[in-house]
Amino acid sequence: MKSLISKALKFENNALYVLNQQKLPTEIEWIHCHSPMQMVEIIQSLKVRGAPLIGIAAALALADFVEKKKPTREEIITIANLLINARPTAVNLSYCIEQQLQAYHASNDMQAIVHTAEQLFEEDAKLTYAMAEHGAKLIQDGETILTHCNTGALVTTGIGTALGVIIFAHQQGKNIHVYVDETRPLLQGARLTAWELEQAGIPYTLICDNMAAYSMKMGRIDRVMTGADRIAINGDVANKIGTYGLAVHAHYHNIPFHIVAPETTIDWQCQNGESIRIEERAHQEVRGAIGAFGQVTWSPEQSHVYNPAFDVTPAGLITSYILSRGIVKSIDKTLLAVA
Ligand code: MRU
Repeated sequence: MKSLISKALKFENNALYVLNQQKLPTEIEWIHCHSPMQMVEIIQSLKVRGAPLIGIAAALALADFVEKKKPTREEIITIANLLINARPTAVNLSYCIEQQLQAYHASNDMQAIVHTAEQLFEEDAKLTYAMAEHGAKLIQDGETILTHCNTGALVTTGIGTALGVIIFAHQQGKNIHVYVDETRPLLQGARLTAWELEQAGIPYTLICDNMAAYSMKMGRIDRVMTGADRIAINGDVANKIGTYGLAVHAHYHNIPFHIVAPETTIDWQCQNGESIRIEERAHQEVRGAIGAFGQVTWSPEQSHVYNPAFDVTPAGLITSYILSRGIVKSIDKTLLAVA
């Protein structure tokens, strides 16, 4: 496979590396990924995370495996299924791996799995710059944008999804400010988005998730932008837990709410949000916090916990979808034509 370099994922000197996002921003650690099974663990523990990047990371792991081990067709299918099922909610794992399998079946050549991984990596970056250009047109000089979770260059091979739009608007010289939801329980906003905004030199304010509604009421927020893990064909969107609440609050306060995602996030088999499987994660994540410093527990040890990692925002609460082809108000089959 050729060399491929992005902020959090790279294939270099014939080896696959993942930036350990669980250690950011305290420590920069690149993990050498030796096998697809190790990649499954890396994805499940969120060392690599974010919908687009987990898909690309899985695709590179499959390509690396195929090139180095020359497996049988059955072994390829087994490994592909393990990668697809590493996490359930984001569509990107199945999208990327299925692209590779289709190319393999069509050509009967294992090298097609490798070429498809390279194409997916390069295509993802292009899609993000297109979204950034479209989305930045919405952002006016002087605006404050609220965002949730982490959607920057750490989760794509390019500039990012929602955070990519924000960074691009800043690069255009617009004077903007960002409100960053800390994003409990795993703090992707506080740890990763705040870090990426500092690197980009964009002024921001960090808030706890439960401060978003009041910030809107106080007139501090002009628009909300988030990414998406899976978009159903009726326009419902699964994204990081807390997104639905933000959309409800934005609707109540008459604040535009935008989803930024490449067309590859639309699941054309998924009729509506109710059929999206929502990942539930370990109780310890809510009883306290797990970080570079280890596990800290502040609740009673045996507290009963509910820990859905994602929620679904109904289409009716979404002002527009910023896709790579442009901004649309709804999702419909005409998008399929060139998707
Ligand atoms: O659990 P995570 O950190 O992988 O969740 C990431 C998100 O929910 C992002 O908002 C999403 O993937 C869309 S933007 C890349």
